[in-house]
Amino acid sequence: MSSLLDLLTSAATRAADYRQEVAEREVFPNDVDLDAVRTALSSLPEGPTAASVVIDELAGAVEPALVATTGPRYFGFVVGGALDAATAADILTSGWDQPAFNAFTSPGAAVVEDVAGGWLKDLLGLPPDASFGFVTGGQGANTVALAAARHHVLAEAGWDVEQRGLLDGPAVRVVANGERHATIDRALRLLGLGAGALEPVATDAQGAIDVADLTRVLASAPDGPTIVCLQAGNVNSGAFDDFVAAIAAARDHGAWVHVDGAFGLWAAACPGTRHLTAGMEAADSWATDGHKWLNVPYDVGYSFCAHPHAHAATMSYTAAYLTGQGEAGLRAPGDYVLESSRRARGFATWAALRQLGRSGVAELVERCCVLARRFAEQLSTIDNVSIANDVVLNQVLVSYGDDARTDRVIESVQRSGECWMGATTWHGRRFMRISVSSWRTTEADVDRSVAAISAANESS
Ligand SMILES: Cc1ncc(COP(=O)(O)O)c(C=O)c1O
Repeated sequence: MSSLLDLLTSAATRAADYRQEVAEREVFPNDVDLDAVRTALSSLPEGPTAASVVIDELAGAVEPALVATTGPRYFGFVVGGALDAATAADILTSGWDQPAFNAFTSPGAAVVEDVAGGWLKDLLGLPPDASFGFVTGGQGANTVALAAARHHVLAEAGWDVEQRGLLDGPAVRVVANGERHATIDRALRLLGLGAGALEPVATDAQGAIDVADLTRVLASAPDGPTIVCLQAGNVNSGAFDDFVAAIAAARDHGAWVHVDGAFGLWAAACPGTRHLTAGMEAADSWATDGHKWLNVPYDVGYSFCAHPHAHAATMSYTAAYLTGQGEAGLRAPGDYVLESSRRARGFATWAALRQLGRSGVAELVERCCVLARRFAEQLSTIDNVSIANDVVLNQVLVSYGDDARTDRVIESVQRSGECWMGATTWHGRRFMRISVSSWRTTEADVDRSVAAISAANESS
């Protein structure tokens, strides 16, 4: 095989074959010999190797060690399955290899990101004039949004954090749902605000913020630069904070409100779940993912900000050799993210949204929620099994008796190869954590998984 066309066709064929058979693969490669994989890949040759040989070696060695996340019975973490059009667009993205910094480095990437960002705001019910950045995921989205928040609350206190740093500046309070995602803490570490300085707020039985406690915490210190972090979709239970009440409480203290909706923000795109996000559009910043519920291939997330100036002032930079910021009236993607040289993530997002359309996005969200409830309904009829959360979204927490037994059942299910669910500790107890996030999952996949779980439950 000599030509580039042959090489790329063969790689695409491999990817397509993999995806076509992935539904019947063992969902987790339990018995793969990782030493053998390493050995097959670890000799760095002295000289060049033909590209076709490189790809054969790589795919041959790695495919047995892959996890079937693009298959229909992977329910771990919150992992989407990569839509066909988005996957193909991602292949094109690699082929085109555009540094999506501004309209000079890639006019095409700048336009597509602009269009896709507008579609995202429309679907998610965010303010049309909000700024946005295409980042690497929820972590990147939370970090960028909280950096903009840091800029804004300190600027209001007369402090230019970008110039002067944090030392000797006014203290910034960060008040957050006690069950926030750990990426909020990591963002605070990176931003110099300090995870230890975070003031946690009590939650209700489902892990949503207790607004009375939020009010108490906010009132416990004099007003000053303050950021309140709320959540659309608790990573365990799927619970939503009460945005109307929580944002009103935050506004009483002049706080910036950030909403982490890595997967839960997508509830806003579906008429059946939209009520869960009521009021969130009044926040100052929002974070969500593309590679979770939108089923765009890894990696992409989106950071939105109701204060475009704060967003750009925090993230943008320039240098003598760089030109083109705001060129031809085009938004410069690099002004809203951490990276300069960056993948053109807009192409795959645009393709996912174009493939699904408005109704397809809504149906995807709705279907996953219906299937999550199907899991809960069927599992709750089994002896020893109880569902710990109100299944309001796509997350189900399941107990199989005491913690040790629950862990045994989870391990047995993971070893079955039929499906894969992770484990978590929530409110002091161990649970199987089921997240239905893939466009490929059907009722039959849920039923097949429930059968595998029942068998594991009986043998544990
Ligand atoms: C609520 C929430 N926030 C943030 C994240 C982090 O997202 P990512 O893994 O894309 O960085 C997750 C991941 O599950 C999440 O559920």
